Amino acid sequence: MTAISSNHYDVIIIGAGAAGLMCAATAGYRGRKVLVLDHANKPGKKILMSGGGRCNFTNLNSTPANFLSDNPHFCISALKRYTPHHFLELVERHGVEHVEKAAGQLFCADSSKDILQILLTECDWSGAEIRMETEIRGISEANNGYRLTTSVGTFACESLVVACGGLSIPTMGATGFGYDIARQFGLKVLPTRAGLVPFTLQPALKEQLAPLSGVSCPVEVSCNGMSFREPMLVTHRGLSGPAMLQISSFWQPGDELSIDLLPGESASENLQTLRKDAPQSTVAKYLNQHLPKRFAQALNDLNHWQGPLQGYKNTDIEQVADALNRWHIKPSGTEGYRTAEVTLGGVDTHQLSSKTMAVNDRSNLYFIGEVVDVTGHLGGHNFQWAWASGVAAGSDA
Ligand code: FDA
Repeated sequence: MTAISSNHYDVIIIGAGAAGLMCAATAGYRGRKVLVLDHANKPGKKILMSGGGRCNFTNLNSTPANFLSDNPHFCISALKRYTPHHFLELVERHGVEHVEKAAGQLFCADSSKDILQILLTECDWSGAEIRMETEIRGISEANNGYRLTTSVGTFACESLVVACGGLSIPTMGATGFGYDIARQFGLKVLPTRAGLVPFTLQPALKEQLAPLSGVSCPVEVSCNGMSFREPMLVTHRGLSGPAMLQISSFWQPGDELSIDLLPGESASENLQTLRKDAPQSTVAKYLNQHLPKRFAQALNDLNHWQGPLQGYKNTDIEQVADALNRWHIKPSGTEGYRTAEVTLGGVDTHQLSSKTMAVNDRSNLYFIGEVVDVTGHLGGHNFQWAWASGVAAGSDA
């Protein structure tokens, strides 16, 4: 009989984040001997900082249409098999209070720590081990499995699950290691870029909008055929808030954004009616009724809209309406991975099984979570993908 060393595991998972921990508990409950390795000092750091400290842990309305990927059908199977209701059932089983903020977006009532605690408890109950502060120095194939050389010794496993996330927020431990592993085993990695990220502006516009820092208003922003109607926030660096974060995932350098500052209202019709009914009224007055005061004032100053509406010709009104319903701006860029919530692109899913997340011609190597080319919209979809892909791999590895 061959002795099995204590450093031999059925499953090793690289990355103790949302996807890795979910996968670990799932595989552990199947009786697999599981080890999670991570180089950071604490597990689940992004869970802790997510949702403003309250973790938007899922979205009850999540569908495959809420995800971007070069292979849009890939996410369907995993999302169907592990739904937001499954995760909600887990949250409720652990007695964690939650609140629904915007439609379908579920947050912890108290703290993100509760979600991390659920995952750590599940790992504990399932017998999965977690080792933090472990640097992985090399991975090689051995005995139909893998051998990992690390800063704390050598480990061997039958199945290897790569769950080391994307490049966003390097200060939280993000690295491109998952992509390196994919390339080492001959997989294609699609170009990556920052997603769900604030925009930066050209110096002139940034200066003009600087006094508005902190002002938020509901807008509808469009770019490349996608539109989002959500709040926009002006910051001292540029434009942020849910509307801007959402559209950033569809924006490419050089593209213009079209921002409707009065969604659902036709400024042209409103101003023409106002000119007829109250000719002494001004654009400034109209703006004050529809936008936050500081924003209305700054917009008016920016565009030099002066005098009573009776002095405005139809073409003048159309110009004002254009600026309000179709404000075109060209961001200079985004804040990049430093503040991005997610990384777009990654391991090409055409090479993975949509059922198990295993590499097509290598059934014991899995990629899950953000490292793969599946990126959700804002609103709890990214965690739902982490849970669903983690369960898919954990049920097979
Ligand atoms: P995740 O990044 O969680 O975990 C990867 C793990 O791998 C980390 O523990 C890391 O230390 C480890 N690792 C990396 N490189 C390694 C290496 N070389 N060696 C060993 N270990 C390594 N989503 C959502 O649905 N709702 C929300 O409210 C939010 N809010 C939010 C806020 C902020 C500020 C950010 C940055 C992100 C969000 N997200 C979110 C996105 C969400 O956090 C993200 O989609 C998931 O954490 C991805 O889970 P993963 O497990 O794939 O990666």
